[in-house]
Amino acid sequence: MSAKKIFIMGVNGFIGSSLAWKILNKTDWEIVGMDLSDNKIPNCLKFEKFKFYQKNILTDKEWIEEQIAQCDVVVPLIAIATPRLYVQDPLRIYELDYEANVEIVKLCAKYDKRIVFPSTSEVYGMCPDENFDEYTSPLVLGSIGKERWIYSCIKQMLDRVIWAYGKHKGLKFTLFRPFNFIGPKLDDIKASKEGSSRVLTQFAHNIINGKSIKLVDGGLQKRSFTFIDDGIECLLKILENKNGCADGKIFNIGNPYMEFSIKELADMLIELFGEYPEYIDCAKNAKVEVVSSKDYYGEGYQDVSRRMPSIKHAEDVLGWKPTTDLRTALKLTLDYHLLGKDYELEQFAK
Ligand code: UGA
Repeated sequence: MSAKKIFIMGVNGFIGSSLAWKILNKTDWEIVGMDLSDNKIPNCLKFEKFKFYQKNILTDKEWIEEQIAQCDVVVPLIAIATPRLYVQDPLRIYELDYEANVEIVKLCAKYDKRIVFPSTSEVYGMCPDENFDEYTSPLVLGSIGKERWIYSCIKQMLDRVIWAYGKHKGLKFTLFRPFNFIGPKLDDIKASKEGSSRVLTQFAHNIINGKSIKLVDGGLQKRSFTFIDDGIECLLKILENKNGCADGKIFNIGNPYMEFSIKELADMLIELFGEYPEYIDCAKNAKVEVVSSKDYYGEGYQDVSRRMPSIKHAEDVLGWKPTTDLRTALKLTLDYHLLGKDYELEQFAK
């Protein structure tokens, strides 16, 4: 693989930390990483080809411009992606996810740098298609009063801006759309206040702490969950960009074989807790309660009843396919939280 210098913004996040770890172990690429903290990347810090800087996207603008000018590829992963906050604090989402990130897009265009940008499965909104296709599926959002859609709308706008820069100004880009990535470092399981994290972390937190699991509107809505390691393999292929195959393209990164309802997720999680001797009581005592979305998230919430990716483009163009089933993904996540076992470290230990 050719030597590359990658600037990862938000390197201490869920995707950033796993991506950095895999790049460092599998390639000879250099990484410059920035974030507000470094608690998820202690092992990356040991690599000479990894440089970490504690910086803030909102204030360290000159420094960021210098890094963009000096690198080959920019991966801007800084954004808030928690549904409760879309409803509670939509302006914060706008300022960080849109305003701060559109500046990065412009700088990539100014310095002629490749940008690999995280779009989201959320852009499809309430799309009625059986499988969401990157190039043909309509993007369907609710009314303005349903503030949940601000994140989706912002990400869609960024997709469109990047696409237009590509078409009219020659910006080299790839857009990727993660579909409900799950894994050990998603959200903080200990600090998961009700509604402050994604569904898996929230449920695990509630089981451990003897609080009942809340099934929003009955939990019949479905998601296609993707294990982080599968997602990162796909991202690596995008970054590798063999013969420019990912240039100017959009890729769903999801697992169509892992579609489950939220209720099924809750049931499987409780069952798996029962396999850890120290947590058998948590599993036995776990309670499940149905709550309305209005009570749980507020008036501004509207849900997605089904979210199923087509991964034809990732398969055909990148030769990628996810391989991890839900049970394995949940086990590896629980091993990390309940036993302190980190599959990422074990993967490259030999
Ligand atoms: C997520 C977030 O918007 C982003 O993290 C991301 O861009 C995207 O989807 C993705 O990962 O692909 P969503 O899937 O709705 O959105 O996020 P969760 O908070 O994980 O909720 C999933 C489902 O579980 C929703 O239907 C929600 O109502 C339900 N839920 C959540 C519960 O039933 N109980 C809870 O305690 C929490």
